[in-house]
Amino acid sequence: MLFAQACDFVTAAMEASQLPAATLPEIAFAGRSNVGKSSLVNALTGRKTLARTSNTPGRTQQINFFDLGGRLLLVDLPGYGYARAAKRDIERWNRLIHDYLRGRQALRRVLVLVDARHGLKPADEAVMTELDEAAVSFQVVLTKADKPAAPELEKVAAKVAQAAARHPAAHPELAITSAREGSGLSELRAALAHLLAT
Ligand code: GTP
Ligand code: MG
Repeated sequence: MLFAQACDFVTAAMEASQLPAATLPEIAFAGRSNVGKSSLVNALTGRKTLARTSNTPGRTQQINFFDLGGRLLLVDLPGYGYARAAKRDIERWNRLIHDYLRGRQALRRVLVLVDARHGLKPADEAVMTELDEAAVSFQVVLTKADKPAAPELEKVAAKVAQAAARHPAAHPELAITSAREGSGLSELRAALAHLLAT
């Protein structure tokens, strides 16, 4: 019952020097801007306003850490691939995300979120390759599964699963979720609880 426990904001980091001491295992939520990272943190924890979400891309501009029951940190990352911010800011976020993903000892798994309507984009492939190289285990999570029609969802899921299978650091199973409708959440909670227990 890991996800039944209280979840609280711990801290936000704008640069590597502000990252908290790594005391608990961490699960990070990565993905393109607006894919639904912050919404998934909220949906998994059942807390609607824990992480700030927005219709406009580029909402999360820091790395936000949430403590789940004193056992795990959920880490909400800024999105990658967002081009409408100042160049200076984009470079700073990208450096922060990549330093974190490559160098964090406590990082147990990265959830790479992919919009179920769009499938994998070059930026997703780049992150998955980076995680392979850093030997950081990751799982691809399709988000907004309530959006596409069933046949389209099936097609995208098959294609994404096939591409993910080419990555040595990828978890074999694709998660398919809707933060809006709640589908796939209990399976993902169970997978993360299982990971923590091993
Ligand atoms: P950045 O922080 O900007 O990188 O975005 P993010 O990946 O954290 O996305 P966020 O959670 O802020 O959600 C972006 C938009 O997608 C919001 O308008 C959400 O309401 C919407 N959204 C998130 N999850 C779902 C979902 O499962 N279904 C649908 N239909 N919309 C969703
Ligand atoms: Mg966000």
